[in-house]
Amino acid sequence: MADLAVITRQALDEVAACGDLAALEDARVRWLGKKGRITELLKSAGKLVASAGPEAVARVQKARADLEVAIVARRAEISRADIERKLVAERMDVTLPGRGEEPGGLHPVTKTRLRIETLFRQAGFDVASGPEIEDDFHNFGALNIPPDHPARAMHDTFYFPDGRLLRTHTSPVQIRALLEHGAPLALIAPGRVYRCDSDMTHSPMFHQLEGLAVGENVSFANMKAVLHGFLQAFFERDLAMRLRPSYFPFTEPSAEVDMSCVFCDGKGCRTCKHSGWLEISGCGMVHPNVLHASGVDPERYTGYAFGAGIDRLAMLRYGVNDLRLFFENDLRFLRQFRAFGA
Ligand code: PHE
Repeated sequence: MADLAVITRQALDEVAACGDLAALEDARVRWLGKKGRITELLKSAGKLVASAGPEAVARVQKARADLEVAIVARRAEISRADIERKLVAERMDVTLPGRGEEPGGLHPVTKTRLRIETLFRQAGFDVASGPEIEDDFHNFGALNIPPDHPARAMHDTFYFPDGRLLRTHTSPVQIRALLEHGAPLALIAPGRVYRCDSDMTHSPMFHQLEGLAVGENVSFANMKAVLHGFLQAFFERDLAMRLRPSYFPFTEPSAEVDMSCVFCDGKGCRTCKHSGWLEISGCGMVHPNVLHASGVDPERYTGYAFGAGIDRLAMLRYGVNDLRLFFENDLRFLRQFRAFGA
């Protein structure tokens, strides 16, 4: 019994020396567990009373209670130290400068498309869209291009094994819109189109802008006014426009739209091949066969349609000379458009 003070001291020292929760648990088991030394002492209480008197049991019980308190206290200390260590290890200095992430921006072709949409909305046109995977009917048949028509050869079409195809132009949206809404309507349909073609001025995927207005008494003159108004608004300057006779199976009569060169003001330069004119769009009066195939009465309604390259409009507006730059997405190129509004 004389040893109790020594034993208690030893137990308290051990607890105090424990550096982590596992060691502390070991110590607890060693002293207070089922076979712990203090537990053993209490188990032999009968012998204790005989050898050291009744108050010996009370002293052992007090030793056990003291040890329990010490263990709880040590456990709290260790936990606090753990948290402290973690906080130090994971500390971050919120006053450090940031890593300089740069804000992104819209792609120049997207900016151009949005600008075109805004301008045509202001003129009363809706914005429509259609699927990029099309069928023969919408891309060709309903547009007055029958299976053996030579115009198909110009389209370098990507076909799927099941006969469907990647649309070669946005004109199929004309058919879809007329079938869905009927006449009268006025819409533009910007979107991706695909042709098996690739060089400085051709990309296998590019963007077209379709325009379509159908109603009673819609005229060729209306079309001319809308196209000229659009070009002046888009390029923010006075420019001349001319129409040259052309051919498309889905319009009659058909024309190519030229505008005076925005780089030389029509004087002649490399971009316009010294002609003073830039070809910008195809257009014409919607062919009666197209109206008929779309469920619109060609005796009652007339309409005009046009198709322009959005990428080409973007190139001319931003002064970009190689179409491929738009699709390589080199950040050094794209960054230059951050400052531009739409
Ligand atoms: N779809 C024609 C093309 O891709 C463009 C066009 C559209 C011409 C509408 C006339 C009318 O070349």
